Amino acid sequence: RIASVHGRRVWDSRGRPTVEVEVTLQGGVTGRAIAPAGASTGSGEALDLRDGGKRLGGHDVGRALGNVERLIAPALLGRDAFDQNGADRLLIDLDGTPGKTRLGGNATIATSMAVAHAAAAAAGLPLWRHLGGEGAVTMPLPEIQIFGGGKHAAGRLDIQDFLVVCPGAGSFAQALEWTAEVYMAAGRLMEEAGRLKGVADEGGFWPEFDDNEQALAMLTRAIERAGYRPGEEVAIALDVAASSFGAKGHYRLGREGRELDSAGMVELLGGWLARYPIVSVEDPVAEDDEAGFIAFRQRFGKNVQVVGDDFLVTDAGRVARAAATGSCSTVLLKPNQCGTLSETKAAWEAAKAHGMGGIVSARSGESEDVTIIHLAVGWGVAQFKVGSFTRSERMAKWNEGLRIEEALGGRARFAGRAALTTGLE
Ligand code: PGA
Ligand code: ZN
Repeated sequence: RIASVHGRRVWDSRGRPTVEVEVTLQGGVTGRAIAPAGASTGSGEALDLRDGGKRLGGHDVGRALGNVERLIAPALLGRDAFDQNGADRLLIDLDGTPGKTRLGGNATIATSMAVAHAAAAAAGLPLWRHLGGEGAVTMPLPEIQIFGGGKHAAGRLDIQDFLVVCPGAGSFAQALEWTAEVYMAAGRLMEEAGRLKGVADEGGFWPEFDDNEQALAMLTRAIERAGYRPGEEVAIALDVAASSFGAKGHYRLGREGRELDSAGMVELLGGWLARYPIVSVEDPVAEDDEAGFIAFRQRFGKNVQVVGDDFLVTDAGRVARAAATGSCSTVLLKPNQCGTLSETKAAWEAAKAHGMGGIVSARSGESEDVTIIHLAVGWGVAQFKVGSFTRSERMAKWNEGLRIEEALGGRARFAGRAALTTGLE
């Protein structure tokens, strides 16, 4: 039973305040979790409640913390921490709004995850094992950023994430090793080209390129330089995050100096798909462009995974609709987009029920919290996206995956190529 719920202000990877919640059970066992924060957020996301005003750029979380102490803590006292659905239902009802605007999604997600950690600790199990039981044996395919653009790099490139996946790897550990080789090769190529300029928000190289396609060419060369067969052993995934440069069927690619309509966007991406070993594209068009998603999937979905992030915002209803319209093959799962673990799980269950894939994902603002890798393994979500292969808020998740894979030992099954959800009905 829950004996206390305490919120504290800690700091995230962008040096901004964020919410940590600590749940203590009778008997003294505790669980703790930290809310992440997005920068290229979907408009349908749960509210990341900030204080506004001038102090700390308006990013302080005093109101969210106040909600934890004054509203959430009294409501959760005495509740069974093993009843995650019950605890989350209470948060949802207490908030009473579709977008968690009263309590703040940052307050609710930190609380929800802390309850899960407390229950796992009380059971004496790692969280992944507590969530998934004996059946949790799948290690997800990592999707790892090499160049970071968009809102994570002051718009230096329009495309937000240039990532690699390693469908040819034999284990999670090997996928990380291959990615490390590609990351180093990309760094050397950038240096040779005189374009090495530090890293973006998620740790990928700062994209000092003339246009988006140059980054794709450089990434393909990095894969080759590292000694892998592009497309087979190591392939490219993109998060276009098109909502950050387009809306209402109008896309403005600042780096290219081009303005495109929805069909033009699909054509542009189609050209890249033909020229580079790209196997997955996230948010190819803006969140308000369902027709664009459907057109893109119709054209390229047979061979390319189409992922909805800002478009689906980890919402079970939107996932079901995407399955019905054929707009996406895969849902990005970010727990703070909906605000509780139970709603995140519901979005994943909806995807599975319709034959869609899933990717558990971090945010651009992160911390040492490693809950999400436990969710991926515990729920059997076969893909995992955490940003790049530098900065400890990213590495903490990759390294925790290594520990889990080691704990699974011979029972571990690496999701590999089969994790990429492609095909059309
Ligand atoms: P965000 O970026 O956390 O800034 O939303 C991550 C993503 O778009 O996948
Ligand atoms: Zn995204």
